[in-house]
Amino acid sequence: MSRAAVVAGVGGYVPPRVVTNDELAQRLDTSDTWIRTRTGIAQRHVVDAGTTTSDLAVEAGLRALKNASADGADLVIVATTTPDRPCPATAPAVAARLGLTDVPAYDVAAVCSGFVYALQAGSAAVTARFAERVLVIGAESFSTILDPADRTTSVIFGDGAGAVLLRAGEREEPGAVLDVHLGSDGSMADLITVRGGGVEERTRGAEPRPEDRYFRMDGKSVFFAAVRHMAESSRTVLASTGWEVADIDRLVGHQANIRIIQAVADQLGLPPERAVLNIDRVGNTSAASIPLALADGMANGLLTAGDRVLLTAFGGGATWGSATLTWPDLPVG
Ligand code: UT7
Repeated sequence: MSRAAVVAGVGGYVPPRVVTNDELAQRLDTSDTWIRTRTGIAQRHVVDAGTTTSDLAVEAGLRALKNASADGADLVIVATTTPDRPCPATAPAVAARLGLTDVPAYDVAAVCSGFVYALQAGSAAVTARFAERVLVIGAESFSTILDPADRTTSVIFGDGAGAVLLRAGEREEPGAVLDVHLGSDGSMADLITVRGGGVEERTRGAEPRPEDRYFRMDGKSVFFAAVRHMAESSRTVLASTGWEVADIDRLVGHQANIRIIQAVADQLGLPPERAVLNIDRVGNTSAASIPLALADGMANGLLTAGDRVLLTAFGGGATWGSATLTWPDLPVG
C-alpha cells in the first residue's frame, strides 16, 4: 500500500444570473446558432455587481466540505485567473471565511489549467505528509475581465467555482489521485493574455491603456495548441498510470469548446460519449471548469464509484496538464 491523496468530497457553485446566447446576440454581432455550433455553449452564468471570486470559491468549498462530511482542511489552494485583488492572494481570504485562519493558503495562476496544477500541488502535499486534508478550489469571475465589445471572448467564458477535498489515503482505494502530468511553453504567452495591470505596464512609463485591462485570446491558435497538448499530455499520464485508452471510463476535459473535447477524444481514440460535458450550461469557466464538471458529472450519475477518470486541460501560459484518478463512492446531493 502506498500513501496517496484521495478525493473525499466535491462541490460546485455557479452564480444565479444566467446569460443566454440570445441575450448576447442583442448587443453583439453573433447568434445563438453560431455560438452553439462553434462552441457547444447555450448559456453561461455571470456574477452580479459586488460578487467576487472569493464569494464563489467559498460556496464551492463549503459544498465540497459538506459532501465529505469534513469540518476543515489543513491546506487551501485556489486556482484562479481572476483574483479578488492583484495582492494579496485570494486563498487566505477564502480559507478565513471557511473558518480556517491558521492554515497555509495560496493561489495558483495557470489560467484554464489551474485546477490540474492545483490538484498536483494538493496531491503532492498529501503524499509528502505536509497535509492530511487539502481543499483544492478553482474559481473564476471571468466575466469581469472580458471586453464587452469582443464577440470572440464574450460568448465563450462564464463564471463559477468548483472544489475538491483531498484526504490522505491509499493509492489502491477508490478516489485516489494516481498520476499528474504538467507542462508549459511561455513562448505562447501572447495567445491568451491580459496585458495591463502588471509590472510590464507599470514600468512602461506611459499611461495605462484602458483596452489592456481586458482578456485577449487568439482563438484559432489556442484551439490547435489545446487539442495537441491535451492529447499528448493525456497519453503521457496514461502511460505513467499503466492505463490503455480503452480503460478510461470518463474523460473530464477542460470545457473550453465542445469541438476541442471531441477532437481530443478523437485523437486518443476514445468514444466521444465517455466525455463528461457541462459546457452547454456553464460555458468555459477557466480554472473552475474541471471541478465544476466533476460536480456536475457526479450529480448526473455520470461519475460512479470505481470509474477510471482522465482529466485534461490547456490554458494561458501556455500551460497544460492531465491527471488520472479513480472515482470515489461519494454521497450525491
Ligand atoms: O480555455 C482555454 C483557452 N480557450 C480555448 O481553448 C478556446 C479556443 N478557441 C476556440 O474555441 C475557437 O477558436 C473560437 C470559439 C474562439 C472561435 O471559433 P472558430 O471556429 O475558431 O472561429 P474563427 O475564429 O475561425 O472564426 C470563424 C468566423 C470568422 O468570420 P469570417 O472571417 O469567416 O467571416 C469570425 O469573424 O466566425 C466569426 N466569428 C463569429 N461569428 C459570430 C468569430 N466569433 C464569432 C462570434 N459570432 N462570436
